[in-house]
Amino acid sequence: MRIAVLGTGLVGRALAARLSELGHDVCLGTRDPAATRATTDADGHLTETARWVHTHPEVPLLTFAEAADRSELAINATNGSVSLLALEATRGHLDGKVLLDVSNPLDFSGGFPPTLFVKDTDSLGEQIQAAFPDVRVVKTLNTMNASLMVHPEELSEAHTVFVSGNERAAKQDTVELLRQLGHEDILDLGDITTARGTEMYLPLWLRTMQALGTASFNVRIIR
Ligand SMILES: NC(=O)c1ccc[n+]([C@@H]2O[C@H](COP(=O)([O-])OP(=O)(O)OC[C@H]3O[C@@H](n4cnc5c(N)ncnc54)[C@H](OP(=O)(O)O)[C@@H]3O)[C@@H](O)[C@H]2O)c1
Repeated sequence: MRIAVLGTGLVGRALAARLSELGHDVCLGTRDPAATRATTDADGHLTETARWVHTHPEVPLLTFAEAADRSELAINATNGSVSLLALEATRGHLDGKVLLDVSNPLDFSGGFPPTLFVKDTDSLGEQIQAAFPDVRVVKTLNTMNASLMVHPEELSEAHTVFVSGNERAAKQDTVELLRQLGHEDILDLGDITTARGTEMYLPLWLRTMQALGTASFNVRIIR
């Protein structure tokens, strides 16, 4: 499947690399490919993202719009605080396609731990669906770290991944992709409003990470 991963951070790179390994035709979306390829840190060394791009020639780096345009399915792995802005660049290129939304509405302006800039009565997943009514948004994978998204077997026991979206067929495509990534316990919570639950789990996820001293953990729903 032709998949566009929109976002060049830890999550975008992890998903792009693994989905490509699994045989998908993957591209990575960024604001300015030339700038992303050449970005250096304070010491003048290429950033991790720039180095990743150079060592993964099988994953072309395109603009958000170009990546969305060539895709059959896309993944929003942009910073949650700018996801609506970043996705604006893809307007018209994702209509009718499934968009897996892994973003979280984290606000770091007050330091760590971050707060949520939308909660209780709305969610970022719903805001994205409302802003792009012709895109088939499915919220998933936002409740675990990037490494577990693509290698759930890193934990010795099965753990749960949640799915929220308005359309059954879009969620079926999502479940198929999650299974390819190795996820076994997949819980469909319902329509996109249920993304409020998984996004509002983040404050607990963050405190658990602090208490455990690691991000390599997840929850399992025991029925
Ligand atoms: N890190 C995790 O383990 C984890 C786990 C679960 C969910 N998430 C969620 O997954 C998403 C990605 O997280 P991440 O840590 O991989 O990356 P991130 O640093 O949160 O986001 C990086 C991406 O955001 C884009 N971006 C930043 N400012 C922008 C702007 N003003 N306009 C348009 N695009 C902009 C960047 O574009 P350029 O490529 O152009 O720089 C880049 O592609 C986030 O929403 C995060 O909350 C992360």
